[in-house]
Amino acid sequence: MRLTRRTQIAVAVIPLLAAFATVTARAGSPAVVRGDQAASAKGSATQARAAKPAANQAVRGGKALTSAEECGRCHQDIYRYWKASLHAQAADDTRFQAVFVKLKDESARTDLDQLCLRCHAPALLQGQDYKWEKKVSWEGVTCDFCHSVRGIRADTKAPFVLDVGQVKSGPLRDAQPTVHVARYADTFSSSMLCNPCHQFTNEHGLDVLSTYDEWQSSPYPARSVTCQNCHMRNTSGKVVDPKVKRVASSSVNLHEMPGGHSITELNRALQAVIASERHGNTVDVTVQVSNRGAGHRLPTGSPLRSIVMVVQVDGGTGKPQTASRTYGRVVVDENNQEATDEATVWLRGTRVVRDDRLAPTERRVEKFSFQMPANTPVRAVAKFYYHYSPTAASKTDSGMPFLSVSSWLDAGAVK
Ligand code: HEC
Ligand code: HEC
Ligand code: HEC
Ligand code: HEC
Ligand code: HEC
Repeated sequence: MRLTRRTQIAVAVIPLLAAFATVTARAGSPAVVRGDQAASAKGSATQARAAKPAANQAVRGGKALTSAEECGRCHQDIYRYWKASLHAQAADDTRFQAVFVKLKDESARTDLDQLCLRCHAPALLQGQDYKWEKKVSWEGVTCDFCHSVRGIRADTKAPFVLDVGQVKSGPLRDAQPTVHVARYADTFSSSMLCNPCHQFTNEHGLDVLSTYDEWQSSPYPARSVTCQNCHMRNTSGKVVDPKVKRVASSSVNLHEMPGGHSITELNRALQAVIASERHGNTVDVTVQVSNRGAGHRLPTGSPLRSIVMVVQVDGGTGKPQTASRTYGRVVVDENNQEATDEATVWLRGTRVVRDDRLAPTERRVEKFSFQMPANTPVRAVAKFYYHYSPTAASKTDSGMPFLSVSSWLDAGAVK
């Protein structure tokens, strides 16, 4: 079966991703990275693997990619969705730039372009535009990067097999464009296309991003549900401007890639059911929390993401009582200090000390007890907040509210 084969490929690729972080650029000429220079300062097992010359087009550079604006002349609808995605903002996002520029200023490392930009600005590396002069470099995960991919190979430093130029690869078997050549590639319907950027182990062995692995070990691959099935649903739109070509299909794959920044997606992912019972002066609140809609842990991605549930019980005394649960990961650095910003997580994170995120399809029952005078009506509410503040404001920000469920007990109601 199709899936079995993909599963095997995936298994082969993941251990190799560990060497991702050991690529080092030669100071002064960052354009060419060869495997024999790739040994990191700290010798490790990954060093041996890094000794093979890397043939990564995305890193070695070559023909420049075309700007999304050019593709958008004919693929207007897809362009519009993509433009609203975080992929389009991966390079010019102020939060990314703030962390990246600060790191480059303060860190002695010379490999930061190679390390960070292969996911955040792959077109910059491809076009060797280290001074950020080309528009396409700022376009983050741009059209022409993904659609130049012919396949994914089991080589950590060169995961993408690229064919840059006339050929645009995609999911359509019968596309007949005019200005460029179209080629079908099965990678576009496979989660493997997302793997090189959504699965990452740093040089200390920390799985900074493990979204792909989380999906891989979930029930979804067996149900043939890929990343694209959830994140690139079919939506109405024209594949190409009808003035250029009339195509039968009236739908496109949603290129907006909604995720944790979308309240709709969060509500699709998390389900909560609340119940309360009174036993004398005690009110017991039970909240069933389920990850019903995310094909990976909830939340996934950066360890700085978390979901907080705040349970509030109000017995009409004007003084509500609260309790909370946090679903997230805690990562520490080499000194066992909690990593609270993206730079520390990526470069110095060494281990996960807590991971209580909700596994795919998991249902967890959370119980709380509150002391409340009998004979008063009680209202119990569970509110959910999504937190993501990579620039270290995480401790103070109040998060994005997305879901609230409540239950009531009448005065004196005893079960
Ligand atoms: C002058 C108009 C035009 C421009 C500019 C253009 N395309 Fe296309 N593209 C088309 C047409 C026409 C088709 C064919 C649609 C069909 O037959 O279903 C197409 C098809 C495609 C396909 C489908 C291929 C497949 O087999 O799945 C992809 C992917 C694609 N284009 C990507 C791009 C990218 C990326 C750019 C910018 C670098 C771009 N296009 C620029 C007109 C254009
Ligand atoms: C993150 C990688 C990625 C980026 C960036 C991206 N695409 Fe796609 N594109 C895909 C995938 C994957 C599919 C197929 C989805 C599926 O079949 O489930 C696709 C499908 C398409 C198709 C075929 C029609 C359709 O909607 O299925 C066209 C045309 C296309 N993309 C053009 C573009 C253009 C133009 C841009 C930029 C404005 C762009 N893509 C950006 C990954 C990407
Ligand atoms: C070239 C690297 C690259 C590829 C390939 C890629 N992504 Fe991404 N993706 C990123 C980066 C970088 C971000 C974060 C952008 C930011 O916030 O600065 C991101 C963000 C996202 C988000 C946004 C989450 C949110 O917070 O809302 C989703 C969802 C996503 N990607 C899904 C996918 C899927 C599905 C695929 C495969 C079809 C894919 N990506 C392929 C690099 C990539
Ligand atoms: C069964 C549907 C489903 C599948 C399969 C799925 N996702 Fe998601 N994903 C979601 C939903 C719903 C959310 C929003 C909830 C959340 O924040 O986790 C999400 C969120 C995300 C985010 C934002 C981080 C976060 O947790 O807020 C990223 C990045 C992402 N997905 C990438 C991927 C990648 C890469 C794959 C494939 C390896 C994938 N997803 C497979 C449904 C899915
Ligand atoms: C393997 C691909 C990959 C590499 C390498 C990578 N990132 Fe990211 N980065 C991502 C993805 C994917 C996200 C989206 C976060 C998520 O899924 O939770 C992200 C998110 C971020 C964010 C948050 C952006 C936002 O919109 O809030 C910052 C900041 C960031 N990365 C900085 C860096 C820095 C600095 C480096 C280099 C030290 C780096 N990243 C290397 C893939 C990567």
